[in-house]
Amino acid sequence: MIKLTMVVIGGFFGDEGKGKIVSYLAMKDSVAATVRGGVGPNAGHTVIHQGKEFKLRMIPSGILNESSKLMIGPGVLVNPNVLIEEARKYKLEKRILVDPQCAVIEEKHILQDKQGYLKSRIGTTGTGTGPANSDRVLRSGKILNEIESTSSFLADIPLEVNRLIDEGKQVLVEGTQGTFLSLYFGTHPYVTSKDVCASAICSDVGLGPKKIDEVIVVFKAYVTRVGSGPIKNELTDQVASEYGWKEVGTVTGRARRAAPFDMDLAKRAVMLNSASQIAITKLDVVFPEVAGVTEFRKLSNNAKKFVEDIEVSLGIPVVLIGTGAEAFHTVDRRKEILAKN
Ligand code: IMP
Ligand code: MG
Repeated sequence: MIKLTMVVIGGFFGDEGKGKIVSYLAMKDSVAATVRGGVGPNAGHTVIHQGKEFKLRMIPSGILNESSKLMIGPGVLVNPNVLIEEARKYKLEKRILVDPQCAVIEEKHILQDKQGYLKSRIGTTGTGTGPANSDRVLRSGKILNEIESTSSFLADIPLEVNRLIDEGKQVLVEGTQGTFLSLYFGTHPYVTSKDVCASAICSDVGLGPKKIDEVIVVFKAYVTRVGSGPIKNELTDQVASEYGWKEVGTVTGRARRAAPFDMDLAKRAVMLNSASQIAITKLDVVFPEVAGVTEFRKLSNNAKKFVEDIEVSLGIPVVLIGTGAEAFHTVDRRKEILAKN
C-alpha cells in the first residue's frame, strides 16, 4: 500500500524540483488535497504537463489533479495579489482554500526587502517575506481575516486537513525552500525567515508529528543556490554552463550557482527531516541518456550507480527519479521497493 500522508521537503538550498515531484504524486496517487507549508511567495515552483507550463509562487503544485483541493496553511505568508493572479490565470478559484490566519505581505514589506542589508548582504528574493515574518513576530501585521480581497478562499485549514486524514484520504503536504535555507539549521545568516524542515512544514498546516506517514526529501542530482552563502565545490560559471547546470531562478530571474551532488549535506538533510524516502530530480541533466525514461531497469549503468550510491550512503530508498521536466517523466519505484521489503 502507498502510505497516505506524505510531506515533501527540499534537501539542499531550494529549487530541487519539489514542484515536479508534488505534481506527479498528486496525479499518480489521486490525493484529496495538496497543502502548502513553507515561507510564502519567495518560492517558485514549475509544473509541466503535456507541454503546458505552470509557474506557481503561492498555489500548491498539486494543480494537475482536478478533483483535489489546493490549500495553504496558516503558517504561510500570503501576498493576496499573487494568489489572486495565479488563481485567475490557471482558473483554480474553485479549488483553493486558504487559512484566515495566514499573515499578509504588504507593499511596505516588499519595499523593505528590496533594499539595504537584506538585498545587498543576504540576497533575498525581494518578495517581502522576511519583513512580513518580522511584523508577524512583533504581532503588528495583518492576517487574511482582516482583508477583503481573498475572503472567498478562506477555510480552517488545520481542521480540513485533519478531517481528510481521519477519513482515510490521502493528503500531500508541500514544503518550500530547502533544508539549508532554514533559519535554524541553514547557513546563517544566508537563510530564509523561518524553519523550513519537515516538522516546521507540518506545523505550518496544523499537522502534529503522528499524522505523517512518509517524509520525502528531494535532492537535485547536483546542488544549486541562488543568493549569497556558502556552496561546497562551487563550479565556475563556465564549467556549470558546460555541464548544463546553470539555471535561472523562477522568482527572481537570477542565475543560480552550481556544484556537484553533496553527500554530506544530503546525510544531514535526511537527519534533520527524519526523511524516510528520497526523490532525485534532473537525473537527465547529469546523464542525458536517461531523458524521459520511466523504468529503473532502463536507466544507464552510470545513472543506476549514481542512484544506488546515494541509497547506500543515506540508508533510505530512492523512490522517485526525475528524468525530464514533464510531471510523468518520472521513475516510480515505490511498488518495487515495497514488494522487496
Ligand atoms: P528570502 O527567503 O527571500 O528572505 O531569501 C533568503 C535566501 O533564501 C536568499 O538566498 C534566497 O535566494 C533564498 N531563497 C528563498 N526562497 C527560495 C526558493 O524558493 N528557492 C531558492 N532560494 C530561495
Ligand atoms: Mg524554486
